[in-house]
Amino acid sequence: MTNAELILEAKKARERAYAPYSHHSVGAALVTKSGKIYHGCNIENAAYGLTNCAERTAFFKAVYDGEREFTKIAIVGGMEDTDGNELCAPCGICRQVMMEFCNPETFKIILADGKDKQVEFTLKEMLPYGFGPDNLKK
Ligand code: THU
Repeated sequence: MTNAELILEAKKARERAYAPYSHHSVGAALVTKSGKIYHGCNIENAAYGLTNCAERTAFFKAVYDGEREFTKIAIVGGMEDTDGNELCAPCGICRQVMMEFCNPETFKIILADGKDKQVEFTLKEMLPYGFGPDNLKK
């Protein structure tokens, strides 16, 4: 799965966004070590704080299915009815969820806009000095 293909999957996922309050729709496509793709969209709530981001939707679906190892995620987002005119970086909560299941040195986060801009970071670059499961080992 190339990054370009994965970005297309994230764009498809974005069409499922439920964002009646912010009108900011986000899609994510997460790849497991075995090459399976999990899609996620943001799911908002009238009690705003319950909103689930696209990235966490993808992770939680995958973990429910028994997946625990991941290689990369593509994220696209922006105000609804636009192509996603700017890059949409994962929020702090989603970065922490990634930290639970991903190797920060190798897990790749790909951000793409609606045109041809795309950037790629490791989780470590996006969450330096992250706290994770290794911190709780004796
Ligand atoms: N959102 C995501 O789904 N992922 C991100 O990376 C950033 C923000 C959602 C949450 C909320 O539904 C809307 O975008 C505006 O914050």
